[in-house]
Amino acid sequence: MINEKIKKLVFDVLLNKKLTVDDFEYILTNYNEDDFEFIKSSASKIAIAIFGKRIYFRGIIEFSNICKNDCLYCGIRRSNSNCERYRLTKDEILECCEDGYNFGYRTFVLQSGEDGYFSDEVMVDVVKTIRDKYNECAITLSIGERSKESYKKLFDAGANRFLLRHEAANKELYEKIHPSFQKYENRFRCLNDLKEIGYQVGAGMMIGVPYQTNRNIAEDLYFIQEFKPHMVGIGPFIPHKDTPYKEEKAGSIELSLLCLSLVRLMLPNVLLPSTTALGSLEGNGRQEGVLHGCNVVMPNLSPMSVRKKYLLYDNKAGVDLDAKASIDTLRKQMEEIGYEVVVNRGDYKEITKLKGD
Ligand code: 5AD
Repeated sequence: MINEKIKKLVFDVLLNKKLTVDDFEYILTNYNEDDFEFIKSSASKIAIAIFGKRIYFRGIIEFSNICKNDCLYCGIRRSNSNCERYRLTKDEILECCEDGYNFGYRTFVLQSGEDGYFSDEVMVDVVKTIRDKYNECAITLSIGERSKESYKKLFDAGANRFLLRHEAANKELYEKIHPSFQKYENRFRCLNDLKEIGYQVGAGMMIGVPYQTNRNIAEDLYFIQEFKPHMVGIGPFIPHKDTPYKEEKAGSIELSLLCLSLVRLMLPNVLLPSTTALGSLEGNGRQEGVLHGCNVVMPNLSPMSVRKKYLLYDNKAGVDLDAKASIDTLRKQMEEIGYEVVVNRGDYKEITKLKGD
């Protein structure tokens, strides 16, 4: 039986009305199986109305796992002395792009830890070279917190998009899962700067990170509703054996899927990846993500030699597959559920909100 209050809240969202933190918390705490299915099918219908059964592929190049930060949940945190560190050279990064381009990728996602080696000068050079070589491709950066000037230089060099999950909209939670030198205020300053400069910006959070309550997730959803990122990354927290959270349990896939659907309802045009973490906890996790309203997948383009070193959490999916096999596997998974993978930059576009279906 559908909960009438939840149904009304979903219709409110579809009619472009804003929900409160209490509303989001109510949904997260009170939904039943029927509500879950209703939210899933509404989100999926919206995604199909806007994108068709078409999935954008982004090739992710994990170019350095050296990180000055110490996020308590993350396997490449600087205190993890068991992590074998690496840094790709510019030529190695370019080789990944070349492979990726030949496989049909038109977006390169350059992701790394916060590695001081990649100064503005070094990073601008990498971005410019990719921009000159692949004029029609989008360049997405996921390299953490930097100054506004730095973000601007990278944008001017040719970067188009930036992924920086906000991690937690609740300050207290943010401060529990990060060391005190990593400032909540700076995270949000970065997100605002990125948007102001003109990037397509991605925010997001993990589901089930230690100490997180439904109230906190509701605050995250509220933040997403207000900030309106162009992209949103949400996946379950998965413990990593060499972090302080090694004994903690993984986040719920179901709750992650519910949140993804709610984001699709709130921001119909949002670029919503079905995350690797989803696929890592469950074999068909990434298919489930798509069926709940996701429209992006991000296979790995990193060289095989470093795959097993970029581990933010245990049992990461796809570390044994090379770039070609990664995309083939994902393409097959998408085809199994009736979706096709498209060769396309897949930029964020403003489309008038559809009212229901
Ligand atoms: N489990 C799931 N996701 C994680 N991330 C970092 N560590 C983990 C983990 N243990 C996510 C963070 C980060 C993104 C790149 O990966 O949200 O922003």
